[in-house]
Amino acid sequence: MSDPSSDGFSHQKIETNNLLLIVLILITIAIGGLVEIVPLFFQTSTTTAAPGLKPYGPLQLAGRDIYVREGCYNCHSQMIRPLRAETLRYGPFSRAGEFVYDRPFQWGSKRTGPDLHRVGGKYSDDWHRIHLINPRDLVPESNMPAYPWLPKTALVPEELAPKMRALRTLGAGYTDEEIAGAAAEVKGKTELDALVAYLQVLGTSIK
Ligand code: HEC
Repeated sequence: MSDPSSDGFSHQKIETNNLLLIVLILITIAIGGLVEIVPLFFQTSTTTAAPGLKPYGPLQLAGRDIYVREGCYNCHSQMIRPLRAETLRYGPFSRAGEFVYDRPFQWGSKRTGPDLHRVGGKYSDDWHRIHLINPRDLVPESNMPAYPWLPKTALVPEELAPKMRALRTLGAGYTDEEIAGAAAEVKGKTELDALVAYLQVLGTSIK
């Protein structure tokens, strides 16, 4: 009987050579990853906006940046999974097409607080204002931080047009008029106005 380890390129050679094994493992994982991820870029269900979804307006866009700045994603996800317990609590599960204008998306991975993907329209603007300035005023046992500076800080209107132009190159269909009118739309508004406008539009494209 011939020795199986003696032929040109046997498994033994791979398994006894650390470097070769590492390189081949990396190549195998890379191919597996590409096969899983690349098709998603070409599937219309993941790249086409959900029906009724609009790019964020100037005020909502400013609010979204405050959401990112304050790190709300550290405690809140925006991703309702297709599980009964989740859809009963939060509403219809999240679809990929609802996030095409989110750059970057705010799915999050930690839920110290509830998921926020369908929070739009759940409460009044006033509820959000009181809650963001001091959550304990509405939910006594809440451990969410207070954000008392938001109503005292004005937005910078000139920041919006460049942001919208950048997003337009990535596919958000803003018209020239919308971009030109952005500064006027957020003039005199506070960071709190913007954040509430953002929260109120979340998840509302699917009824
Ligand atoms: C330290 C964790 C933490 C951070 C950071 C945090 N939250 Fe919360 N949030 C919570 C918890 C816990 C609750 C549930 C209790 C409550 O309603 O206050 C909550 C509740 C909420 C609710 C009500 C959700 C519902 O369906 O009842 C909203 C809206 C909300 N947070 C928005 C925000 C925003 C916007 C930010 C960032 C400015 C933020 N949160 C930052 C923990 C957090």
